[in-house]
Amino acid sequence: MSLPQNVMPSFTPDSELDLLFSPTLIPANVKAQLGSDLHMRPLAKTDITRSHLSVLSVLTSTSTLSESQYFQAFESLRACPNTYFTLVIVSRETDQIVGVGSVFLEQKFTRNLGKVGHIEDIAVDKSTQGRKLGLRIIQALSGISENAGCYKTILNCSDANIRMCYLTVLWQCTDGWFLFAAFYQKCGFEKKENEMARYH
Ligand code: ACO
Repeated sequence: MSLPQNVMPSFTPDSELDLLFSPTLIPANVKAQLGSDLHMRPLAKTDITRSHLSVLSVLTSTSTLSESQYFQAFESLRACPNTYFTLVIVSRETDQIVGVGSVFLEQKFTRNLGKVGHIEDIAVDKSTQGRKLGLRIIQALSGISENAGCYKTILNCSDANIRMCYLTVLWQCTDGWFLFAAFYQKCGFEKKENEMARYH
């Protein structure tokens, strides 16, 4: 049910938000490929009120946070300049977030003091999946990483998420594993080596 015009939340322009990083770092060619009803920008300090945590919950368990906890986490990211880049896609109609993703840049002593971009926490709201927002988020994050001088950009995909996506496409094709791999291939990534984990 749509809200009456007078109570519809209005779209908040970047200039009125406290942002994690400069919006000019998001590649313009990626932004230009979004639908006219959508806007891509850096995470804002007030995005707890724009469904940020609810969108992340399609990816993994996400606790309810108080505003002060959220602000503290936001400021801890911002306290490390040129390191953490979380971006969001916002609906211009509702001012709510429909997609998110992050890249953080790791400084190395190897590779002539090279840097590596690590993509994390890509999530698109169920109602908006299939509109190439996942692809655009990964293209934008890879662009930020490349423009910052990283020699590569990598990402991990958990088995749990592969299984989740496998189930969502099982009815379309029996080879769901191949289909999921296709998402990352379509984003320009290829499978390389293995991930080890120790949980604490
Ligand atoms: N299996 C196979 N192919 C897929 C899948 C899938 N599950 N999802 C998308 N694709 C394909 C699309 O068909 C499209 O192909 P096309 O260019 O031939 O049309 C292409 O990949 C791009 O798809 P998008 O429309 O950009 O995908 P979407 O916006 O729906 O986002 C995502 C995909 C991020 C996986 C979304 O479904 C989601 O949020 N899932 C739950 C959370 C999740 O699993 N996140 C990824 C975790 S891994 C990480 O964070 C590093």
